Amino acid sequence: MVAAGLMGAGFAAAQPAPEQPLLAEQVFKNVQALKGISVDDFMETMGIMTAALQFDCSDCHANAGTDKVDWAADTPRKRTARRMVTMVATINKDNFGARQMVTCWTCHRNRDRPLVTPLMETIYGMPSLDPDDVLVQTPGLPSPQSILDKYMEASGGATRLAGLTSFVGKGTSVGFGGFGGGGDVEIVAKAPDKRATIILFKQQTGRGDQIRTYDGRAGWVRTPLNVLGEYQLSGGDLDGARFDAQLSFPGQIQRILTNLKTGPPTSIADLPGPDSQTSLQKDAESGKNHSVNVVQGTGPRGLLVTLYFDRQTGLLLRELRYGNSPIGRVPTQIDYADYRAVNGITLPFQITYAWLDGRDSILLREIQTNVPVDEAKFGRPAPLKPR
Ligand code: HEC
Ligand code: HEC
Repeated sequence: MVAAGLMGAGFAAAQPAPEQPLLAEQVFKNVQALKGISVDDFMETMGIMTAALQFDCSDCHANAGTDKVDWAADTPRKRTARRMVTMVATINKDNFGARQMVTCWTCHRNRDRPLVTPLMETIYGMPSLDPDDVLVQTPGLPSPQSILDKYMEASGGATRLAGLTSFVGKGTSVGFGGFGGGGDVEIVAKAPDKRATIILFKQQTGRGDQIRTYDGRAGWVRTPLNVLGEYQLSGGDLDGARFDAQLSFPGQIQRILTNLKTGPPTSIADLPGPDSQTSLQKDAESGKNHSVNVVQGTGPRGLLVTLYFDRQTGLLLRELRYGNSPIGRVPTQIDYADYRAVNGITLPFQITYAWLDGRDSILLREIQTNVPVDEAKFGRPAPLKPR
């Protein structure tokens, strides 16, 4: 609960948040390389390191995952990682005009020690299907505008969408690998930019709640698997939460995205079904594929966002957004499926939210539109029930 000190300031409409986010070095004991960024941006850099080297926290932090962990203590790998942070910054400064072209991922790509030599298997094997992350407008494709127009039409049309002022969805969480399933889910959204996803687990599961909120200015996350437990969003996480809240009301999509480009069409696999225990990779192999149009744009405060629209139905199947960090972009991917009509508006009943540190999958039973919503749900999550 390190962010507790940020709380309690009075809210005034349409003003930037008065609270200064706590910086990593104000909260943690031994920050030397990643100074000057907020606590949650710092934690995202840990996610990037972990992902880039295919590590666990415990590969660099002795005893992580147990209560004996001392995050501040240095280990040989942690010292190497710190040197690499400085190295990456220097490479980018000296060679790329300080643009972030080289990141941990550039070299490591899922391994602790980068490959040095070209692999014959790769040269003569299947071409890599890794899509570009930053797209350039590809000639000969539908305009981004026409793809967004089709999406608006498929969602119910501009007039109906303009009349959508709120919705409440209820269902259950599915989880992956048998983990994180069985929670009671409530999604609450209010136009133009408030949203809360609340997953509550029954006490006997021993699993803490998973809550994400955004109230139009500030956002909070409570997550059971995080060092921080509960924290107020800042930096890239806050921008992402704002964008998700705005995107809950597709009628605004033309307004919230600028600098639009259409990238090469691709295909994405169906979301895993409720019983799936497979990894994302396996899901991609076994699922049904949908051809998608790809649109990239810039959201509020420079947030880079890529959207994937089903070429047949026009509906949004995936949102991939990238927060910034000193060592590389921080991806968050939200997949949408099982679209159904609710009072003339087509809404997704299955949502999978994947970030560097975990995934939630949600199946909704019902969605009600234009119902009164409890504003408190968008604020800081209610105090934990005594357990
Ligand atoms: C590749 C190595 C590596 C991995 C993997 C890694 N960390 Fe770190 N961690 C570091 C380094 C390096 C620092 C110090 C950064 C600095 O000096 O700016 C650090 C610092 C921290 C700190 C601050 C401790 C303090 O009080 O100074 C926390 C908390 C932390 N890491 C949590 C995590 C978590 C949680 C994970 C797993 C999601 C993780 N780390 C994965 C390398 C790693
Ligand atoms: C320019 C390429 C390059 C980039 C970029 C890079 N690394 Fe490395 N990294 C290496 C190489 C090469 C090694 C192996 C060095 C050796 O074995 O002596 C290595 C080794 C490591 C190791 C030790 C792994 C082990 O257990 O042997 C860690 C930890 C590490 N890097 C973390 C990072 C982090 C974190 C980043 C991003 C901030 C990063 N690296 C970016 C090239 C890179």
